[in-house]
Amino acid sequence: MLTIALPKGRLGEKVYRQFAEAGYPCPSIEEENRRLVFENEEAGVRYFWAKPSDVAIYVERGAADLGVAGKDILLEYTPEVYELADLGIGKCRMAVAAQNGWVDNPRRTLRVATKFERIAKTYYASVGRAIDVIHLNGSIEIAPLLGLSDVIVDIVETGTTLRENNLSVVEEIVPISARLIANKASYAFHNEQIDRLREKLDSAVLTGRQ
Ligand code: PRP
Repeated sequence: MLTIALPKGRLGEKVYRQFAEAGYPCPSIEEENRRLVFENEEAGVRYFWAKPSDVAIYVERGAADLGVAGKDILLEYTPEVYELADLGIGKCRMAVAAQNGWVDNPRRTLRVATKFERIAKTYYASVGRAIDVIHLNGSIEIAPLLGLSDVIVDIVETGTTLRENNLSVVEEIVPISARLIANKASYAFHNEQIDRLREKLDSAVLTGRQ
């Protein structure tokens, strides 16, 4: 039986649909209940819901064989896992944003508010810019509005949050989407089983795109 960590929330439901279409459904997961772990012995899968940022921890430590995590989480926490497939959903981008009309002064250290410290540091190191990172845990968009930071590094999906707060994208850093990840030892031990699941999932993803 393969244990699979799904990210709780809207993305997780889409992800589960892909697994179900790929031939790994689990009827009990669709019932209204407060159970946390769901099994389908016949299909050989056991699912559980985890906070999106915790999925990679379960997979890295082997509590789950497989999981689905956003590329943002993989870039930020760099867990020791294999990235097996791009599921083509949960698409958004990691971007630098600032107040409309903001003009950079390259001689000054840039104050960057973000939840994604590593991504921000790596990006600004790559362009040779000195920054002062201000770590926040949410509602990052408020920082430049109140003068806490010059820019933010955050996820932009529809762009609505930025627009409604007079902010705009200054630079795109990297496109983000949901990825299938595997525990390294599980992948070695259950190679055939996992590859079969990955292939079926890949075809379900392709069919979904058509
Ligand atoms: C993310 C991100 C933005 C918003 C962007 O927040 O931090 O605030 O989504 O989406 P949009 O471009 O469609 O408006 P999330 O809802 O994940 O919560 P957070 O504030 O905890 O980061």
